[in-house]
Amino acid sequence: MEYDSNSWIWDGVYYYPHFVGGLMLTAALLGVSTSYFGGIGVFSLPHLWSDSGIFHKKKSEKKKRVRVYMDGCFDLMHFGHANALRQAKALGDELVVGVVSDEEIVANKGPPVLSMEERLALVSGLKWVDEVIANAPYAITEQFMNRLFTEHKIDYIIHGDDPCLLPDGTDAYALAKKVGRYKQIKRTEGVSSTDIVGRILSSMDDIKAHEYCNGTSLPVNPQKAIQSKSANISQFLPTSRRIVQFSNCKGPGPNARVVYIDGAFDLFHAGHVEILKKGKQLGDFLLVGVHTDQIVSEHRGNHHPIMNLHERCLSVLACRYVDEVIIGAPWEVTKDVITTFNISLVVRGTIAETNSSLIDETDPYAVPKSMGIFQLLESPKSITTTSVAQRIVANHDAYTKRNAKKAVSEQKYYKEKKFVSED
Ligand SMILES: *[C@@H]1O[C@H](CO)[C@@H](O)[C@H](O)[C@H]1NC(C)=O
Ligand SMILES: *[C@@H]1O[C@H](CO)[C@@H](O)[C@H](O)[C@H]1NC(C)=O
Ligand SMILES: *[C@@H]1O[C@H](CO)[C@@H](O)[C@H](O)[C@H]1NC(C)=O
Ligand SMILES: *[C@@H]1O[C@H](CO)[C@@H](O)[C@H](O)[C@H]1NC(C)=O
Repeated sequence: MEYDSNSWIWDGVYYYPHFVGGLMLTAALLGVSTSYFGGIGVFSLPHLWSDSGIFHKKKSEKKKRVRVYMDGCFDLMHFGHANALRQAKALGDELVVGVVSDEEIVANKGPPVLSMEERLALVSGLKWVDEVIANAPYAITEQFMNRLFTEHKIDYIIHGDDPCLLPDGTDAYALAKKVGRYKQIKRTEGVSSTDIVGRILSSMDDIKAHEYCNGTSLPVNPQKAIQSKSANISQFLPTSRRIVQFSNCKGPGPNARVVYIDGAFDLFHAGHVEILKKGKQLGDFLLVGVHTDQIVSEHRGNHHPIMNLHERCLSVLACRYVDEVIIGAPWEVTKDVITTFNISLVVRGTIAETNSSLIDETDPYAVPKSMGIFQLLESPKSITTTSVAQRIVANHDAYTKRNAKKAVSEQKYYKEKKFVSED
C-alpha cells in the first residue's frame, strides 16, 4: 500500500451511491455524459479520436473482452503509476481503475494532497485507462470484490508486488487469489509519491535558505543548489524502451492539423490534463514541447523543476490527448519549430506559472503571433505546479511526519531491491 499502486483508471467513472454529490461535480468537471441505474452513476468517457474506431470494432467481435481492475490513491500521480497501469492494461483488454476516496485516504494515510476530482481527472486522462470507479475502498473487501466481479464484470484484479495487508494482518487479495482471479505486476520505476514530497520539501528548504542569505535578487550558488537537491534526487533511470512504451509511435497523418503547446509540465496535474484536452480539440495531432531543466530553472528559479525532463516527458506522454512530445523544447517558438513540425496552431493556457514580466526578454510567442497562428486558451482549472507544492508546504509538518515514516519503508525497498525482468 505504501507504493500507492493498489488502485487507479478511464472510459467511464462509476460512483457509489453514498457520494452522489461528488459525482455531479466531477461529471461537470470532466465534461462527460452520465446515466444512472440502480443508484450508480456511470460515466462514459468519450473514446477519443483515432482510438474510437478500433475500440468499437473490437467490441463487436464475438470473443469476450478481458476486463482487469486495479486500484490506488493516485495522490501526486507520477509516471510510476502510469507505468503500473500500462502493465495492468497489458494483462487484459479493458482496464478499470478504482480511485480511493478522500475519506479512506485520510483514515489510512493522512490528508491527500489532491482532491477526488483532481485525482479522477488525472487517472481518467491516462491513455491506458478505459473506466474509472470513484470512491473505491482503500482495502479491497469481500463485498467490494464481489461487486467488481458481478456489477463491473471484472475478470482479474491486478496489484503491485508489494504486500497489501488488511487491518487484521491477512492478505487483502487472498479471496481473489483463491478463485484464480488475481494477477500481479512488478514495481520497477524509481519514483514514488514519498520521493516527490521529499523533493518538494527540500526545494522549499532551498528557498528558505536563500531568503536567509538576503540573496533575493542574486542567483543561488548553482553548485549549492545542485548539492542540496541531490539529497532527494530522482532515482529514475530513463531508457529509450520506456519512452517507446509510453509513446504512440505515430506521426500526424496526411493533411493533419498539428497543434503545438509548450511548457514545463512539472508535477503533472489536473490543470495540465484539461489544457491538453482543449488543445487537442483544436486539431488532429497534439505536439507538446517540454522545456529543458535548464530553461525551467532559468524562468522559475533554481529549485525548479521538481521532476526532471525525462520524468516530465513520460507524464505528458501518458496523457490520452497527447500525440507526441519534443524532449527539451526551446523557450521560443521559432519559425524553424513551426516549419519542422508543420504546426498550424500554437496555443497557451491563460493560467501559467512563468511570469514573463519578471524576465525582461522577448515574447517567446512573437513568431506564431506575427503569423496569426497563436491562440490563448482559457485555462479550465486554476491549479498550478506552485499551488500543488504550496499545499504540501502548508501542511509541512503533517507531510514531513508522514514522509519520514514512508521514507523508511522506501529505503528498505531500495536496499532489498532485486532485478526484475519486465513484460
Ligand atoms: C529529502 O528532503 C527532506 C526534506 O528536506 C529531508 O528531510 C530528507 O532527508 C531528504 N532525503 C534524503 C534521502 O536526503
Ligand atoms: C538582510 O537584509 C536586511 C534588510 O535589508 C538587513 O537588515 C539584514 O542585515 C540583512 N542580513 C544579512 C545577513 O545580510
Ligand atoms: C501541413 O498542415 C496542413 C494543415 O494545417 C495540411 O493541410 C498539410 O497537408 C500539412 N502538410 C503536410 C505535408 O502534411
Ligand atoms: C506577474 O507579475 C505581475 C507583477 O508582479 C503580477 O501583477 C501578475 O499577476 C503576475 N502574473 C502571474 C501569472 O503570476
